[in-house]
Amino acid sequence: MRRALVAGNWKMNGTTESIQQLLDGLVTGCQAGNSEVLVCPPSIYLAQVASRLATTDITWGAQNVSQHASGAYTGEVSPAMLVDLGCQYVIVGHSERRALYAESDVLVAEKFSAALAAGVKPILCVGETLEEREQGATLDVIQRQLQAVVSYAGIADFADAVVAYEPVWAIGTGKTATAEQAQEVHQAIRAQLAEADSGIAAGCRIVYGGSVNAGNAAELFAKPDVDGGLVGGASLKANEFITICQAAGEEQTV
Ligand code: PGA
Repeated sequence: MRRALVAGNWKMNGTTESIQQLLDGLVTGCQAGNSEVLVCPPSIYLAQVASRLATTDITWGAQNVSQHASGAYTGEVSPAMLVDLGCQYVIVGHSERRALYAESDVLVAEKFSAALAAGVKPILCVGETLEEREQGATLDVIQRQLQAVVSYAGIADFADAVVAYEPVWAIGTGKTATAEQAQEVHQAIRAQLAEADSGIAAGCRIVYGGSVNAGNAAELFAKPDVDGGLVGGASLKANEFITICQAAGEEQTV
């Protein structure tokens, strides 16, 4: 059985004060439930988040990580630093980083491996653009992005990883993939992993991201291969995020 994961990707938002308020709201409203709840603040606020959440059931992680272990990499944050701050997860290969910071499939694979080597679980994002979907290339694009990491890291590494299907056209646009569209891609991702190792594929959580909100979460999470969500905008509002977490908690994924 896969335990659902709901991860909040706060992106580049927040101040010390607004984050404290958001955390207070989450701690008050989040019941220890069936689902795992994770928040990913900007890295500069990780220490604050770690200190507030230390005695709660909510876990925290980062939005990005360097592929290097240490040294002269101005502005970067290493996997070991994330471990030092108690991070359990890190998002790698988010489409904003692929598109705006030119992160290639190979670089994403390097970050994925570096995170795992240090003891941080990567949440590997894959997803097609609107143009790619309209050309009927969705499954090809996902397969390429996933295969780059499977080939580089090895399938065994997916025992401790999460895959996030995030159609680029659904991110921050208010346009969600239908539950059927999400399920189709999630199933294809699991089938691709199963070609390498069926046991790892069955245990690997595949979460959906792209305009998940309080109104659509339950329908998405009800699909058999949708094991939770990666939530952007709606994760900045405590009440809405809590509702999404509850929707995941009610779903028994098998
Ligand atoms: P969104 O972002 O929920 O605001 O669409 C999701 C993401 O980018 O992870």
